[in-house]
Amino acid sequence: MDSFCYPLYVELIKLELGIEAYDGTREQLFLLRAFLILVFGDIPAISLMMRMKGHNGLRPCRMCNIRGVTVDKVHYVPLSRSCVVQTKDVPLLGPREYRATNLPLRTHDQMMQQAKEVHDAITQTSADNLAKEYGIKGIPALSHLSSLTFPTSFPFDFMHLIWENTLKNLILFWTGKFKDIDHKGKGYHIAKHIWEEIGRDTVACGATIPASFGAPVPNISKEGVTMTSEMYTNWTLFIAPVVLKGRFPQPKYYDHFMRLVETIKLCLALELTDEMIKQIGKGFKLWVEDYEKLYYEKKQERLSTCPLTIHALLHIADSIKECGPVWAYWAYPMERHCNTLLPAIRSRRHPYAAIAAFVTAMAQINQIRLIYDAEEQLNLNPDKIDKSYSPPGCKLCSFPLYCRRTYLL
Ligand SMILES: *[C@@H]1O[C@H](CO)[C@@H](O)[C@H](O)[C@H]1NC(C)=O
Ligand SMILES: *[C@@H]1O[C@H](CO)[C@@H](O)[C@H](O)[C@H]1NC(C)=O
Repeated sequence: MDSFCYPLYVELIKLELGIEAYDGTREQLFLLRAFLILVFGDIPAISLMMRMKGHNGLRPCRMCNIRGVTVDKVHYVPLSRSCVVQTKDVPLLGPREYRATNLPLRTHDQMMQQAKEVHDAITQTSADNLAKEYGIKGIPALSHLSSLTFPTSFPFDFMHLIWENTLKNLILFWTGKFKDIDHKGKGYHIAKHIWEEIGRDTVACGATIPASFGAPVPNISKEGVTMTSEMYTNWTLFIAPVVLKGRFPQPKYYDHFMRLVETIKLCLALELTDEMIKQIGKGFKLWVEDYEKLYYEKKQERLSTCPLTIHALLHIADSIKECGPVWAYWAYPMERHCNTLLPAIRSRRHPYAAIAAFVTAMAQINQIRLIYDAEEQLNLNPDKIDKSYSPPGCKLCSFPLYCRRTYLL
């Protein structure tokens, strides 16, 4: 990863030092600086950028030093592991209970020290052992940027955490398909015919929800149905609270789900006060603690219900405090951007050249539109132009007036 990103890192360091640029309004040169302050992506990608072992490591969390409980080479991170009987296959070290409010958080200095120790180890074996113990594989190239703090500048991605993991896993529980653990007679296990009714009700919602709320959610009970993260989002927030009510064998599972929905809704607020952030932290803490009671049941044979993505919820409130609301750095825009790039790949032999040519051409045409105010003439999707709506300005930088003025002066 570091060699792949090397050209980017070099550019970022240059931008930190400052490059000479021309200010069109004042008609003078100035030193333009830019600082990278946040890095985000899914868990495996960020692990690579931070040079960490990631979710497969013995200390899988990038935010804290919680130790995984190993079952069949996979490391699970429940808060409570007092149920675990130590065997040769499950060598348990470290505390038997972690407190959600008192997790052993990683700090920048500690991580840099550990990275250096791994880097400086005299033999490969001792480097490997240290890397295993710390969950850190070496000194990350990104640590050379003064504007980043490890691990706080690398918040967990809300889209992946909630909709690609937690919610999908909950649905697997409800339909009795989560891994190969026993779901018989559990209070969360919804019978097949009831789940199909839920699917039917979900489809029926499509007819009455205005199109401006987005694509209708398909039959969620259908085998192999493709749902985007956005569909999961709207299902969770607007449809599930209604169609799931009264459907669980035990209502406490519905209440538990609704507390997740409430906490997610708080996270999506446009502005957050300190009080709300505290509430979010408390909400996730209680939710995860109850998850351990309701789904993990604190039983050794159900350890696999506690992957990193459940634990990571405990770090969301802290990340909001450091980095702002979750929607300011979640993966939706990036995923959408990647989707627009896919059709640009016309050549199977040279996919990257095709992407590069497409991105360059798009950037150029956007600049031409801006410089000559030719939004309409250079519109490549004439059907989609909305005459009644006059855009506030530059779609690229969202600083319309300033941007236009700079070019037109
Ligand atoms: C989800 O709902 C929001 C509005 O609440 C809407 O902007 C978005 O397009 C919807 N997405 C889908 C796929 O339903
Ligand atoms: C939803 O899917 C289930 C399972 O495949 C099926 O039995 C049911 O008829 C579907 N309902 C609708 C309204 O499409």
